[in-house]
Amino acid sequence: MNARGSRSATDEFTRATRAAKFILSRTRLRPRVAVVLGSGLGVFAERLSGSVRIPYAKIPSFPRSGVIGHAGRLAIGTSNRIPVAALEGRVHVYEGYSAREVAFPTRVLARMGVEAVVLTNAAGGIHPDYEPGALVALSDHLNFQATNPLMGPNDDRFGPRFPDMSEVYSKSLRAIALEEAKRLGIALHEGVYAAMHGPSYETPAEIRALRTLGADVVGMSTVPEAIAARQTGLRVLAISCVTNLAAGISSQPLVHEEVMRVGEAAKDKLSALLAAVIERIHRELSRERVNAIPAPTEERK
Ligand code: HPA
Repeated sequence: MNARGSRSATDEFTRATRAAKFILSRTRLRPRVAVVLGSGLGVFAERLSGSVRIPYAKIPSFPRSGVIGHAGRLAIGTSNRIPVAALEGRVHVYEGYSAREVAFPTRVLARMGVEAVVLTNAAGGIHPDYEPGALVALSDHLNFQATNPLMGPNDDRFGPRFPDMSEVYSKSLRAIALEEAKRLGIALHEGVYAAMHGPSYETPAEIRALRTLGADVVGMSTVPEAIAARQTGLRVLAISCVTNLAAGISSQPLVHEEVMRVGEAAKDKLSALLAAVIERIHRELSRERVNAIPAPTEERK
């Protein structure tokens, strides 16, 4: 079902495959790691070398974002010689898209051969230790969006009907992120993300409730993509940039411009961390692949 309520005749797997083929026809690079850049966090994509940039509007079946601070294009280039796909901007459930549509670009990444995705977002800080500008690697999430990208008929080519979600955010990728942050002198917290439907920000009572339930940060994205990514076997790392203290934690009212401004101020830090983390993840995937190749047998030697 699309945002206007009509069902497309072509099945989603075929559409995701077509979109993936279209994207790969524009570049010789074959990224194994992708990053999704949230509100005001797009600078990483601008720093890629030799990149092609494809507006979402040109990619078959791709949803388009109308949110200020979301460029709405896919960049494929290299970071420290590592091929990377960067989605500059995403669509949200609050824009009227279904969670399935929100997750479509993630499924396209998987069809492109991407094996790990780094999801970034702007979030409100609930944990009392978090200041605006803090970075938080997600250890888990609470899905309060009252929807799920896997709702509706399941296509087993994407993955199982009832996928396990006991480790949505890869422990090993998080360990890499924590190590690289330490090496670069960047503070990186670990916390639980509560996904709200939006677009209104939360009330102070909602934030108190979320805190009681174990949330450290709150936002309006990431979870549909993370669920779809896990179903289809992608490894997920997610990093929130705390752009504001959540409602009621500070006496300031919340405004999108402030969220954008703090995101802007933290972008260099996040961009440096992303470059280091993506390089390590790429190496890790390459090493696993080499180790997976069976040793030559005696006869073949
Ligand atoms: N709440 C929800 N989403 C957000 C926030 C917030 O406080 N800040 C940035 N995105």
